[in-house]
Amino acid sequence: MEMNETARFKLLLAFMTMFIAVCYPVVKLYLETYLDNLSEKTIIKSNLSSDSIESEIIKAWNKLLKKPERKNIKIAIGMNTNVDLIISGTEFFKKLKLNEPNGIKNHEMIENLKQFKECFMHFFRRGSAAERFFTNSGDFEKVLELVTGLKQQWFIGGNAALMAQGISKRFIDAEILLIGPVGPKLKELLSNNVRVLDDTFIEKDEVHLILEYEAKETFENIQTPQANRFIVSYDVKNSRMELIDEFFNITSIQKPDITIISGLHLLETQNSSYRSETLKKLTNQLKNRLEKKMVHLELGSISEKFLMSTILNSGLLNEINSLGLNEQELLFLAYASEKAPHSNYYMESSGALEYIKIVDILEWILSTYGSKANSKSQFSRIHFHYLKFHIIAENGAGEWSNSISSLVSGSKIAAKQACGFDFDDLSNEVALEDFVEMKIPYEVDENKNIFLKMDQENAFKFNASEPVIQFQRGNIQFYFTPTLVCKKPLKTVGLGDAISSNGILYTEFRKI
Ligand SMILES: *[C@@H]1O[C@H](CO)[C@@H](O)[C@H](O)[C@H]1NC(C)=O
Ligand SMILES: *[C@@H]1O[C@H](CO)[C@@H](O)[C@H](O)[C@H]1NC(C)=O
Ligand SMILES: *[C@@H]1O[C@H](CO)[C@@H](O)[C@H](O)[C@H]1NC(C)=O
Ligand SMILES: *[C@@H]1O[C@H](CO)[C@@H](O)[C@H](O)[C@H]1NC(C)=O
Repeated sequence: MEMNETARFKLLLAFMTMFIAVCYPVVKLYLETYLDNLSEKTIIKSNLSSDSIESEIIKAWNKLLKKPERKNIKIAIGMNTNVDLIISGTEFFKKLKLNEPNGIKNHEMIENLKQFKECFMHFFRRGSAAERFFTNSGDFEKVLELVTGLKQQWFIGGNAALMAQGISKRFIDAEILLIGPVGPKLKELLSNNVRVLDDTFIEKDEVHLILEYEAKETFENIQTPQANRFIVSYDVKNSRMELIDEFFNITSIQKPDITIISGLHLLETQNSSYRSETLKKLTNQLKNRLEKKMVHLELGSISEKFLMSTILNSGLLNEINSLGLNEQELLFLAYASEKAPHSNYYMESSGALEYIKIVDILEWILSTYGSKANSKSQFSRIHFHYLKFHIIAENGAGEWSNSISSLVSGSKIAAKQACGFDFDDLSNEVALEDFVEMKIPYEVDENKNIFLKMDQENAFKFNASEPVIQFQRGNIQFYFTPTLVCKKPLKTVGLGDAISSNGILYTEFRKI
């Protein structure tokens, strides 16, 4: 039977997605998103006016963006921090010179150098991304020693550190406290206005080693089909969330206005009793804090159903005010809950997401875990970020304001940062419109009006000069805006962190 190109591509994509979901415990954020995006038919660009729709959206966003009045806000951010060290994978294994016969084999955990090489070769041969953990520090230390002398690139890593760094650039008067394991190299990479207390300083950085390779590179007679990266670490402090008590000891003294928490996804490497104890500890610490100021949780890429359901059952969501997540995380949350509407959408969806389903799930999360359902719950806001559009959903009587700016600040930074443009520099925005495109799904009527179907009853007319759509369902207020997708993304690591932290810094909350 002949398969056409699209069908074949979809099958390949479905297989790849399944493969990623089943085989890799932690996949770097947004990688899948960009892969997924390739499978879709390119949407026909509308040509409503001489101005491109993208430039109209950017101009309209700028009119809507308004920073809150407050000054000198105090923010605490934790808990996953590390350095990403990028080297060439093939250079490294040339230097390693293992005398053992060449094996190619997948390993869930890496116990020694032989397994390291076998596992690297396994993914190198396929050209697919993977992340693995060393089970002992000794061998990982040996690896780091070997790396000296190779060409190296160092970057800030870990969601918390990336958020702290981003905020320090865009909110110069904010007082930022980063609470996570920070070593000398990370300290050197962070801006001066990111404060790190001596209590959380560590002698040796937590290094995530990223072995990159180019398309068609050859090593020991194996050629890789495409460029990709293999990530290894022995990162106990982050994956066990060892700094929880420290974090709350510090925040109880420092009394931040905003607390941002990330790194829960790393618990995937831990056994189930450890996970539930840690989540219980985190939930209790949040519950017992004296100063009930704002807490935002950035969920992170979780692909293990059991961890997600442990999080949902832990009561943690009742203790936060705001939640940030992307499409993988939202659909996976619905899937793991087994109760949410469209809980099988995670397994079924390919290509463009349907607005109605996303809105249904957001509504379900807020009405199930939010303050309306449970009077003790603090939870009343979700910032959903997807490659093509963002939605903020809020409930609660006027707890939140400046929500449109919050939403727009996230969408705009997604477009600009992915393309390598500075967020606050307006002079680069004339060029920007050539680098980005609007890719939201829509319907067009006979008059070339664009319609978005957000609800069973309601289709909203989309006007690029007024790019934020607002609507209400029950007690929940929704804000929608497209994102502009970077055509040739330079940097997608940390994009979700930038979106959510911008959103939080632009929002106004009664308790700040
Ligand atoms: C879009 O508009 C421009 C300028 O008005 C015009 O030159 C171009 O042909 C139009 N493209 C399409 C596909 O209609
Ligand atoms: C946190 O503070 C408590 C009370 O002061 C102390 O007993 C505990 O050792 C501290 N924990 C950490 C991890 O610093
Ligand atoms: C679970 O993991 C923790 C920390 O990694 C360890 O201390 C504990 O012994 C493990 N428990 C079981 C039952 O394996
Ligand atoms: C779109 O919004 C602009 C700005 O508010 C307005 O001037 C224009 O008439 C609107 N266009 C349509 C087709 O509704």
